Amino acid sequence: MVVSNVDICRAANRIVPGPIAQIDGSLISGDRQSAIAPGKLNLTLSVLGKRPDGYHELESVVVKITLYDGIDAFDCGGPPIQITCTDPAIPTDARNTVWRAASLLRRQAGQPAPLHIQLHKRIPIAAGLGGGSSDAAAVLRLLNQRWQVGLSDAQLRELGSEIGSDVPLFLTPGPVVIGGRGQQVEPVHLPWCGWLVLVLPPFGIATAEVYRAWDGRGHNPGAARQCLDARCHSAAALTGALFNDLEACAGRVEPRLRELKQGLEANTRYRFHVTGSGSTLFACLDSHDEAEQLNRRIAPTCGVTSQVVRVISNTDCE
Ligand code: C5P
Repeated sequence: MVVSNVDICRAANRIVPGPIAQIDGSLISGDRQSAIAPGKLNLTLSVLGKRPDGYHELESVVVKITLYDGIDAFDCGGPPIQITCTDPAIPTDARNTVWRAASLLRRQAGQPAPLHIQLHKRIPIAAGLGGGSSDAAAVLRLLNQRWQVGLSDAQLRELGSEIGSDVPLFLTPGPVVIGGRGQQVEPVHLPWCGWLVLVLPPFGIATAEVYRAWDGRGHNPGAARQCLDARCHSAAALTGALFNDLEACAGRVEPRLRELKQGLEANTRYRFHVTGSGSTLFACLDSHDEAEQLNRRIAPTCGVTSQVVRVISNTDCE
């Protein structure tokens, strides 16, 4: 699946009829559908406290970005749900969020034909980019349509929250504020729509471990929303309003993250932020040229992979 940035903005989490494909020598056609599952970044993240259910109460401004996974679904013979994935390290059984999403929808759909889902992974795992959650959200939406289940977006979000706290945010287009354990989602307008340089370290970080390392320190309610102020329309102003209460915890769990961030900031003079529980770092820039220039400096000076992406803005989603 080859798509441009513009296509991603338009197609993020929408379903498109897929092309005829060749799989294991056999032609699959006709009933094939595809979806794009974009990654996310937490621009701000407040941890407001520990909840009685063991999760943490959050307030976070989240944007979707033009780094995406691709999903293809088509009918097949054999077991009810089969998954193949371009990344052999990712399990394709009930541990996979896509499998869980398909299984939940199948229960609602009666006895649909056995389904094959191909997952084209580009979003790194355990990177704070929400890849597994976005894949699940895209599959819920795709199968709701394919099997004519007729669930509303709100019902899909409810179902999604059973799979993971971040799934519902991918079922609302554009920038959002999330609350509760992540399942409360409010669409918002982000005054800035620029470019981002993502730094993708060669290590992932386990989310649950980072939350366990949280020491009770966090921002007050409302602080996370300050980046939505109209004054934050430039990268410089926005960057001043960004913070992440999980960053120190992630640095304690994985000291290489702290060292990498220090190295990046010392070498480039740009500020880098952690998304979610890590391990991805990002810098905000106003122009594509400036983002490309920064991107070119990162591998030679810091020895890590990086990539330029765009925020999927409200207007892109209309
Ligand atoms: O909901 P999800 O399965 O994505 O969360 C992974 C882990 O992160 C949870 O098991 C929990 O330990 C932690 N978590 C949390 N508070 C949240 C979200 C996640 O403590 N709001």
